[in-house]
Formats: sequence, structure tokens, C-alpha cells
Amino acid sequence: MLKLSQRANVSPFIAMDVLSKAQQLEAEGHKVIHMEVGQPSFKLPQQIKEKIAKTIQTDYLGYTPANGQQQLKEQLSLYYKDYYNVEIDPERFIITTGSSAGFNLSFLACFEPGDKILMPVPGYPAYRNILKALGLEIIEYHYSSENDWRFDIERVKALHAKFKFNGILLASPNNPTGSMLSPDELKLTCDFCSNHGIRFLSDEIYHQISYGKEEATAAAFSKDAIVVNSFSKFFGLTGWRIGWLIVAEELVRPIEKLAQSLYISAPTISQNAALSCLQNQDLFKDSLKKYQGNRDILLSFFDAKKMNYLPADGAFYIYLDIEFTNLVATILCEKLLNDHKIAVTPGNDFDPEGGHKYIRISYARDEADIITARDKMDLFFSQYI
Ligand SMILES: Cc1ncc(COP(=O)(O)O)c(C=O)c1O
Repeated sequence: MLKLSQRANVSPFIAMDVLSKAQQLEAEGHKVIHMEVGQPSFKLPQQIKEKIAKTIQTDYLGYTPANGQQQLKEQLSLYYKDYYNVEIDPERFIITTGSSAGFNLSFLACFEPGDKILMPVPGYPAYRNILKALGLEIIEYHYSSENDWRFDIERVKALHAKFKFNGILLASPNNPTGSMLSPDELKLTCDFCSNHGIRFLSDEIYHQISYGKEEATAAAFSKDAIVVNSFSKFFGLTGWRIGWLIVAEELVRPIEKLAQSLYISAPTISQNAALSCLQNQDLFKDSLKKYQGNRDILLSFFDAKKMNYLPADGAFYIYLDIEFTNLVATILCEKLLNDHKIAVTPGNDFDPEGGHKYIRISYARDEADIITARDKMDLFFSQYI
């Protein structure tokens, strides 16, 4: 048999496996409530759909510059001024095929194989797989109740003294926990990285989806931090595969050269859609209210049942402690799907060691589904309380 590379030997994304089982049940005629994948269920606003339809009729839609359309970069620069009150030169933006491509480009541009990167546990599963595929060594920062599930800079300093990592990759709000860094904590992290020659990658993909805590961008505190962001979450353009980076001036050309060869350019129609979304942000404000309502419904249910969950300050997930059921997460998820047609993700996806004690519930859906799911979970969990 011909050789397979060890770099490609990454773990499967279990949420996607749950999704395909759920789809199988749907094909057999069952109605499943999807709370396993992290994607908003709302449809693109009509006004934007019409604009895109017109563009398809009239425009050529060839490649764009590898770093993206000028107009989109300029619009993003305005967005940072409006939302964060931070001035960023449009030339520092790189438009990517989802934030996923942004990670690859950043890691390739900034690190050598064997370099060490600090990443959160629990954290977004693709981080681990991308780092492994690129030959980077993972150093884990474990969120824990001892630190109120916070990213504690003192622990980061201690880990750096021991492992001398070269980069930090961090999402705030974090997937799956929803925990966030305060602006002060983010600034301390940026300063620590600047003072120790550490490259900071700040994953800000869940910005604009938070519930009362202040959001800040790493771009406000450091010119060397790489900001990774996307149109997938707040704007709901998951399948359009469109995101952006903000990088230091000296990284623009190296990343452009990598992008030219790896992707040529992000899909042109998606860049047009992204521009329309930015120009019509008011059309998206309602979704935050929906998430807030869904979150309230679920959290008050879990509180009433005295069930524990992690902070859930941002994003649209609840990372629920299921240890009291004495079931491991994979089995619990299977039962919930088979018996009650509710699809959720086992925590193993986000934390290979401790994740079997948790499930992740995505509530980016219509309220009616959330209420049905809550009632079914009530029936299910009552067996174990
Ligand atoms: C924390 C985090 N970062 C990045 C991504 C990747 O998103 P995309 O490639 O659609 O921009 C996700 C997707 O769920 C995520 O949760």
C-alpha cells in the first residue's frame, strides 16, 4: 500500500459525524433539531439576496487580487472604525476563504515546523488538527474552574517559562465555552506577547455575538497581533467561505504570495456578498436578540435543574457538564439523538482528555426549536437527576 502522511492523520470533527447521523435519521423521515453544528439557521436577508442575484447576472466574477477586493478591504476598515473605534489601514486586511484559510496562511507565514503554539482546551477542534498538519507543536492552556474558566495571564506566563512557546492562538468568545477576555485581559495578553517575541493570533470570529460583556479587538492593542475573523457567524455566511485577517504591514506581502499559490483568491461572489452584509449591518441585528432569547430559555432551564455549564458569555453555545448522568458524552449524544431526535456534540471534539464529561449545545436556531429541544432534554435528563 502506498504511504499516507502522518501529518494527515488528524482526528475527525465529531460534530460533522453527528450531523451525518442526524441527516440519516432525517432521510428516514424523522424531524431532528440540529444543535450540533455551529451555524446560524437564519436565511440571508432578501435585500442582500437580490443584490447578489443581480451581480451574478451582470458581473464577470473572475479572480480578484489574492488579498481581496479593494472595496471590501476599505469597507472593513470603516467597520473597525465604527464598531471598535480603531483606525486600520485597508492594506492590512487580507480576505480569506473563511477564517479557516486565514489560520493556514498565518501559521505558514509566521512559524517554522516544530515551533510551539499555545492553544486553549477546551477549544475549537480544527486548531489542533491544523497545527498538527503543519508540523507545529501544541502546548495546551487548560481552562479550569480554579481560574473561573478565565484565560489567566499569570498561568500563561508560567507556561511560557516552562515551554517557551512561539505563538498563542486564542478565541474570545471561545468555542465551545463562550468565555471571553475583558479588554484589559486582552491588552495584557498582547503586551506579554510583544515583550516576549510571541506571535498572537486572536480569533474574533464570534464578535458581535455576546451578552453584555465588552468586546475588544487585539488590533487595538498590537500591530503584531494577527486578527482572524469571518463572515460565517454574525453574518451567517458559513457556506460562502469568506473571512478576513488583519496583519502587520510586513506580513502583507508574504501572506499575499502564499495566498496566490494556495487559493489564488477568495470566491468573488462571496466577497460581493460580504460587502453587501457590511453595508447593511442593521439587517442582522435581530439575530443577536434571537440568540439572547434562546440562551435565556436554556440557561434558566439548566439553572432550575441545577445543572452546571461554563460561562456562555458569548458565541451561541452552551458547554454543559453531564458528569451527573454517569454517561460518557458520546453515548449520551447517541441516546439524545436516537431517542429524542436532538443532535448535540460530545465535548471530546473540544477536549480529547476531559471532554467526555461535557456536551456542546448550539442554540443558533429558531425559538420554537429551542423550546421543543428544552422540553425533550427535560424528559431525557429527568431520568438521571
Ligand atoms: C472559534 C472558531 N474559529 C474559526 C472557525 C472557522 O470558521 P470559518 O472557516 O467558517 O470562518 C470556527 C467555526 O466554527 C470557530 O468556531
